[in-house]
Amino acid sequence: MRTAQEIGGAAAARTARGASLRTESLTAGYGGSPIVHEISISVAPGEVVSVVGPNGSGKSTLLKGIVGIVEVLSGSVHLDGADVTHRATEEIARLGVGYVPQVDDVFAPLTVAENLEMGGYLLKPKDVPARVEHVLDVFPQLRRMVSRRAGKLSGGERKMLAMGRVLMLEPALVVLDEPTANLAPQIAHTVLDEHVRRLALTGATVLIVEQRARAVLAISDRTYVLAGGRVRMEGTPAELSASSEFVESFLGGGQPAGG
Ligand SMILES: Nc1ncnc2c1ncn2[C@@H]1O[C@H](COP(=O)(O)OP(=O)(O)O)[C@@H](O)[C@H]1O
Ligand SMILES: [Mg+2]
Repeated sequence: MRTAQEIGGAAAARTARGASLRTESLTAGYGGSPIVHEISISVAPGEVVSVVGPNGSGKSTLLKGIVGIVEVLSGSVHLDGADVTHRATEEIARLGVGYVPQVDDVFAPLTVAENLEMGGYLLKPKDVPARVEHVLDVFPQLRRMVSRRAGKLSGGERKMLAMGRVLMLEPALVVLDEPTANLAPQIAHTVLDEHVRRLALTGATVLIVEQRARAVLAISDRTYVLAGGRVRMEGTPAELSASSEFVESFLGGGQPAGG
């Protein structure tokens, strides 16, 4: 449970200005072979938008196309209206996009503090300590762990650190690839309900990919459903929950989709 004081703390740490994101008929894949096809999605400033879909549906590939890790074969990506298609990943980061990959999201041999400092790699060195303090205000639980090695953290703590690490650059858009993968259901709820919510409270726009459709709908303004590399449905959580096709195919009749 979040207390009013905690939420106030996170809101007080709000500095980011949310960016808008739009893909237009984006087709991306590996070695010239498309995996996701003609994806058109949009995220307005400050929104939390999710992409749900089964394992192998192309969720990670879509995010990697957006942040410049996989090849965009056709279509385009626009950040605050500017075409950023084919830009290098580091340039995308400089433009204010923080990307938390599904795996390898922290440096396990380094401490929590060192991970945060590394996250500030584009900052002037003199600005890093204040920014670390700011991130520790957003995620106060990390403060107790600053000298612990990231490899010693629990799965949920590690995801919190991965989010803190991208917050070091004050991102205007945070792109999260399945932050609850391989976490126990209770921990997964904490990651979505508390950590992702705190991230959104900084003012950053959030695009989040999840297999746990039911849990992520609860924190989303809007959701896209991806299957077989294509967008099959989109809507607000209320609209999707009212669709029997969505409920039967993606909410699995009461169980969180994808476990
Ligand atoms: N590096 C890669 N090279 C070739 N194919 C890949 C690569 N990564 C993923 N794929 C293929 O792309 C498809 C979608 O994978 P992915 O985007 O990881 O789906 P999801 O994140 O929804 O589970 C899968 O069929 C997978 O085998
Ligand atoms: Mg994935």
